[in-house]
Amino acid sequence: METLKIAAIPGDGIGPEVIAEGIKVLEKAAQLDGRVQFEFTYFPWGCEYYLEHGRMMDQDGIDQLKKFDAIYLGAVGYPGVPDHISLWDLLLRIRKSFDQYVNIRPIQLLNGAPCPLKNGSKQKIDMLFIRENSEGEYSGAGDWLFKGKPEEVVLQTGVFSRKGTERIIRYAFETAKESGKTVTSISKANALNYSMVFWDEVFEEVSKEYPEIQTYSYLVDAAAMHMITDPERFEVVVTSNLFGDILTDLGAALAGGMGLAAGANINPEREYPSMFEPVHGSAPDIAGKGIANPLAAVWSASQMFDFFGYNDLGEKLLQAIEKLLEENEVLTPDLGGNASTSEVGDRVTEILCELI
Ligand code: NAI
Ligand code: MG
Repeated sequence: METLKIAAIPGDGIGPEVIAEGIKVLEKAAQLDGRVQFEFTYFPWGCEYYLEHGRMMDQDGIDQLKKFDAIYLGAVGYPGVPDHISLWDLLLRIRKSFDQYVNIRPIQLLNGAPCPLKNGSKQKIDMLFIRENSEGEYSGAGDWLFKGKPEEVVLQTGVFSRKGTERIIRYAFETAKESGKTVTSISKANALNYSMVFWDEVFEEVSKEYPEIQTYSYLVDAAAMHMITDPERFEVVVTSNLFGDILTDLGAALAGGMGLAAGANINPEREYPSMFEPVHGSAPDIAGKGIANPLAAVWSASQMFDFFGYNDLGEKLLQAIEKLLEENEVLTPDLGGNASTSEVGDRVTEILCELI
């Protein structure tokens, strides 16, 4: 039997609440299946840790995480610690140190999930966003000159390397090749006259290697509109760090809300651990009440199974989420129910017993 060593970083706010349910579900699925088992090691990093130690994670935290097969993260950030500190000192540090340059965000409307579109359906809303996760607008390059003076100037530079741009676009094509889908690139070459002209050129170049794959290319503003008016046209979508960040939250709203949005940060070469996390934050407004929706955390657990080649188990987890939504009985308040976080986790494991 394979043993997967997972570093669990529950983090802040509702992070620990939803990760507990995700782990419950992962362990149940593994136990029912019998091919794989998990070994979890917990790390108490996050904002509380910061207030005590002056940093978000141990100094050698990256070294400690290196030996794991994957990282399962809740959410980080809490009032009292500035968001740019909690984000850069933990989440972005892990993403960058482990070269997790692919951010995979499924935008898939499951049956039973609420959709704000009048005629939204499972057939129409089924996209896979491949977001560049290592450079671009979030490279952290820039300067802050003459701080506080009348001539104050800030520079925030987008960094698009050939290597970085090619590899994310190629990843999207490889993903589409396996599933027979189309690839859509989202950019903004009319206004961003260096970075996005370059992006479009690289997209064109790489697409020539995949003549059998149908491609589309949209400007980001038009893409935002099409996602609402005609979501069906998007299948595999590749885009930059900033555009991907924004559009995938729009997508999350289309597919049931933040309580259902999952994301995987992948190092495709598997040189370093990849990281799986619900997309939502620590939700201070509902933290500690036991009403956070754990389904996003469960969905990211499903992505973890996919990553390790247990795609059938990943699929079972999605089926379990869908069945729970269709039953419409055990749901947290964000989905109109009155169940607790752990009741939802328990119901998912019960459904898994029927499916596996
Ligand atoms: P948020 O995602 O924490 O909350 C936004 C809204 O969605 C809130 O009303 C919240 O109650 C609701 N919500 C989020 N997840 C939910 C769930 N699982 N079930 C039910 N309702 C849910 O975003 P916000 O408020 O902008 O950020 C709060 C903190 O989280 C900040 O410190 C921020 O920096 C951090 N954050 C961390 C992220 C991460 O660790 N990946 C991502 C986004 C925000
Ligand atoms: Mg975001």
